Amino acid sequence: MSVTAPAIRTAKRVDRFTYAIRNIVAEAKKVEQAGLTVRYLNIGDPNQFGFVTPPHLIEAVARAMRDGHNGYAPSPGIAPAREAAAADFAARGVKVSADRILITSGTSEGIELALTALVDEGDEVLVPMPTYPLYTAVLAKIGALPSYYRLDHTRDWQPDLGHLRSLINPRTRALVVIDPNNPTGAIYPEAMRRALIALAEEHGLMILADEVYGDLAYDGAVPPMAALDHDAPIISYSSLSKAYLAPGWRAGWMAVGSSPRLDPALAAIKKLADGRLCSPGPMQYAVTAALTGDRSHQITFRQALRERATLTTARLNAIPGLSCVAPRGAFYAMPKVELPKGKTDVDFVLGLLRAKGILCVYGSGFGTALDEGFFRIVFLASPQELGAIYDEMAAFTGEFLGA
Ligand SMILES: Cc1ncc(COP(=O)(O)O)c(C=O)c1O
Repeated sequence: MSVTAPAIRTAKRVDRFTYAIRNIVAEAKKVEQAGLTVRYLNIGDPNQFGFVTPPHLIEAVARAMRDGHNGYAPSPGIAPAREAAAADFAARGVKVSADRILITSGTSEGIELALTALVDEGDEVLVPMPTYPLYTAVLAKIGALPSYYRLDHTRDWQPDLGHLRSLINPRTRALVVIDPNNPTGAIYPEAMRRALIALAEEHGLMILADEVYGDLAYDGAVPPMAALDHDAPIISYSSLSKAYLAPGWRAGWMAVGSSPRLDPALAAIKKLADGRLCSPGPMQYAVTAALTGDRSHQITFRQALRERATLTTARLNAIPGLSCVAPRGAFYAMPKVELPKGKTDVDFVLGLLRAKGILCVYGSGFGTALDEGFFRIVFLASPQELGAIYDEMAAFTGEFLGA
């Protein structure tokens, strides 16, 4: 075979697919090769910052392997995990039978299963802006379109309901709600959640409720959105990745709400789930352990997050040219830099990386405009380390804005 023969062609859908949180790592590697140490504040992985998986979850996985649970699991998940998830939802005010729960490879797979099962090519899905980029990445893959509704940083990053309403048209199929939110750290009050449900109901839209940070609100767990309305067509998502400190296990669950209007959706999602055989078997035993066992690690984790959020907000707001809305849950902040004319958020983030070895993600990777100047920080590092990082960030911002 000639080496001059044309390269194997790639699919066009890949051109539409971006995932800034990981794509940007290539830039960081170049900076490392040039000899600078990089501090990675791009990925929301608590385990990379010294937070450890609760031992009883590790034991549950190890025991499952030793006990021989190494074959394929049922496609929707093992019965004890599905029952544990149903009981956990019941304790949080959501009535849903175990038959409507699927155990998935993280929240990510559940989101992909639902969007693939329920949204056609050319359909539109309401996605927050800024958004967690998985949604737009999956929509790009299936040939559907994100319709971005504004989250308003001047109102604590709450959804702009007027803007949301103005985007709905006959092609709109679903509304994505991320609460507590990545990348903003916002939590929505009950009135906002009810307004979102009412809007979805008015237009016959399904809600994808991404609740992966539900237990990581600093004032205690926030209830699932489905607890507000049992008849609304809501699919709820969570996983072991964040609040149970095991993101690499790829173990999550989804609940297809008990409204009979979702029966065809449940059947379609199960049909697609059959095609991928099952999510990793031994980890499903940890889902049971997580949802029925000791959760005291969450108390200390939430305290650690609150301390870091407070530090982050205070330090960033003290830097001339930066402002930051205080996060109320999860481990992200979305500050804004007052960009000089002609500069973009990418210029700021890459400049910070190249000058100081601090890796954040530009807001445009989450859908905000290049010239708005937003960027996302993962604040899981220790307070001492964060203090040093914010000193460097202040120095860089001064140089960048003075330049
Ligand atoms: C809002 C949101 N949804 C979903 C995910 C993916 O989570 P999982 O590891 O459960 O697939 C993340 C991960 O950062 C997230 O921030």
